[in-house]
Amino acid sequence: MNKNDKVFGLKSLKVKYNGRYVGTLAMLNNGMVAFSYEENWLENGFSISPFSLPLEKKVFVPTKNFFGGLFGIFADSLPDAWGRLLLDRLLTEKKLDKNINILDRLAMVGKSGMGALEYEPDYEVTDINTISDLDYIAGECTKILKTKYSKDLDSIFKMAGSSGGARPKILTTIDDENWIIKFASQFDSDNIGIQEYNYSLCAKRCGIEMTKTHLFKSNVCDGYFGTVRFDKKNGSDNVHVATVAALLEADFLAPCVDYNDLFKLTRILTEENKNDIENMFRRMCFNVFAHNLDDHVKNFSYMYDEKNNKWKLSPAYDLTFSNTYWGEHTTSVDGNGKNPGVKELLSVGIKAGLKKDKCEYIIDEIKINVREDLGKYIVNA
Ligand SMILES: Nc1ncnc2c1ncn2[C@@H]1O[C@H](COP(=O)(O)OP(=O)(O)O)[C@@H](O)[C@H]1O
Ligand SMILES: [Mg+2]
Repeated sequence: MNKNDKVFGLKSLKVKYNGRYVGTLAMLNNGMVAFSYEENWLENGFSISPFSLPLEKKVFVPTKNFFGGLFGIFADSLPDAWGRLLLDRLLTEKKLDKNINILDRLAMVGKSGMGALEYEPDYEVTDINTISDLDYIAGECTKILKTKYSKDLDSIFKMAGSSGGARPKILTTIDDENWIIKFASQFDSDNIGIQEYNYSLCAKRCGIEMTKTHLFKSNVCDGYFGTVRFDKKNGSDNVHVATVAALLEADFLAPCVDYNDLFKLTRILTEENKNDIENMFRRMCFNVFAHNLDDHVKNFSYMYDEKNNKWKLSPAYDLTFSNTYWGEHTTSVDGNGKNPGVKELLSVGIKAGLKKDKCEYIIDEIKINVREDLGKYIVNA
């Protein structure tokens, strides 16, 4: 990337879905970014965010400003802390202005974002070759976090620049499957990889739907956690995904929802899909018993199935032991974020329309599985 081939300070951007033109984003004078659907999409497309952007001929203007002036669904395409840090480092290294606007940042995501939305123009930041030695990548990520320096910053950015979440990670293809592989952050212990892997095995045993997970071998730690991506499949269209943050225009840095809200959302969006409602119940119980306090609104997503015109809960991800600095679940359970237990879980489940005895059975099952499989992680929590 050099200064000459891109025009920064973009005022508008095209949004596409698997190559089809969805609509246009336009920067307003007050810094908010308006969106309107394109004519053809209005006839043949679908609403990309049903509550804030219904399929209507209209100029939509966001009212919340915590997504940098964007609607949440477009903010979902932007990287979170890790990818943003890499981009900012790269811009500094290349002596480019870091004060680029939010549309410039989306243009840098271009076609490489999570989910199915793409942006035009596509400002590819770097096309440097990627690296395959995971121990080497993990070491360079630590260097970037600690010393701000890596001679392979371009490659690391190429592999991770559009990823979400705060932990270092890469997006990579292995034997035709698309994986996310995660590395330790400066706050994690060395066994974070095997821990998340063990959490994923237990979650699956608890009936929680997840994609394939794997512990990638390392010579310097117990391994790196990887999960197959549900938004990309080689040879077929990318899947449109929306986080709860996007769907509810909710700030993921703040504790702003309760599990009662997540059930309400699931019931409305999936049109009472029984599997999804039960799976959400299992996730809530798992997060409570396995001490996953970081259950914020970007750690739950829904996927759109265009063929059947239906939304569904996505497979689960980011299920691991976690704390918050205020010591409570980010998503409260029937109003209790500090020490929710059976009473609150039951109350939420029953309000969501699940039968009391079914809830009791699931609560017991998950409590026992978690104690057996993950007891060593939560003993001092
Ligand atoms: N299996 C997956 N398929 C598709 N997207 C995923 C998958 N796992 C995670 N993600 C996306 O990547 C983001 C970062 O992953 P996550 O495990 O939450 O990392 P972190 O520990 O850094 O928060 C998530 O917020 C989600 O949007
Ligand atoms: Mg996360």
